[in-house]
Amino acid sequence: MDETRNIVILTGAGISAESGIDTFRGGGGLWEQHRVEDVATPEAFARDPNLVLRFYDMRREAIQTKRPNPAHDALARLDANWKGGLLIVTQNVDDLHERAGAPYGIEPRVLHMHGEHLNAWCTFCDARSRWSGPLADRPECPRCGARALRPDVVWFGEMPYRMDEIHAALRMADLFVSIGTSGAVYPAAGFVQTARDLGVETLELNLERSQGSHWFHETRLGPAGELVPAWVDEVLAG
Ligand code: APR
Repeated sequence: MDETRNIVILTGAGISAESGIDTFRGGGGLWEQHRVEDVATPEAFARDPNLVLRFYDMRREAIQTKRPNPAHDALARLDANWKGGLLIVTQNVDDLHERAGAPYGIEPRVLHMHGEHLNAWCTFCDARSRWSGPLADRPECPRCGARALRPDVVWFGEMPYRMDEIHAALRMADLFVSIGTSGAVYPAAGFVQTARDLGVETLELNLERSQGSHWFHETRLGPAGELVPAWVDEVLAG
């Protein structure tokens, strides 16, 4: 592939599965023993903030024990070597793409459309702070001192982040690649249709066919830890 071309990559929970992080829709609708509606909505937070904060504290602690897998490593290798445009749009709130970039000394070009576990958002002053500890004990916001921090993750019914930037990147793209996502959650599930409408080539790499699989020009099925390194080798070989 011509090295000056622009690539937009969408990643989902499937790319982190081989790092030991559960996907959302793999376990009979349960998300680590909790119904998603009980922990991932603004209504749940209003109803039972302690449950929601404790749940996210547990997730935040857990992801810090996980490591990037060969799929994250391959995308970081692509980022370090690709001369064209590249944007990794992730629905994941873990930091495994970023950590995979470390051996290359790069800050990968990653956009977290559903927020980040390692950020806290102050609902009083609106500041975002890097946060690795718990929130359930209601710590003070480092900027304003209010005890009004929540996880900086996008819950069901909330607007994903940085949609303008994502659409701008899709308009400039030559290739759109979707990795490890079920295609069940919009607006991310609609990026392939947008890309198709814009005449962009589209490729899906997933364990099984996603809900929007028929939209892709090509689908390759298998574990991300195998498919992604092989695809990156192909792209970098030109
Ligand atoms: N390699 C590749 N794909 C995999 C692997 C793997 N090892 N393991 C699972 N998958 C695939 C599954 O087949 C499934 O299609 O990854 C996909 C994961 O789908 P979901 O669990 O629905 O995760 P995702 O698409 O990221 O969910 C989107 O939903 O709950 C919200 O905000 C949350 O960002 C999340 C959004």
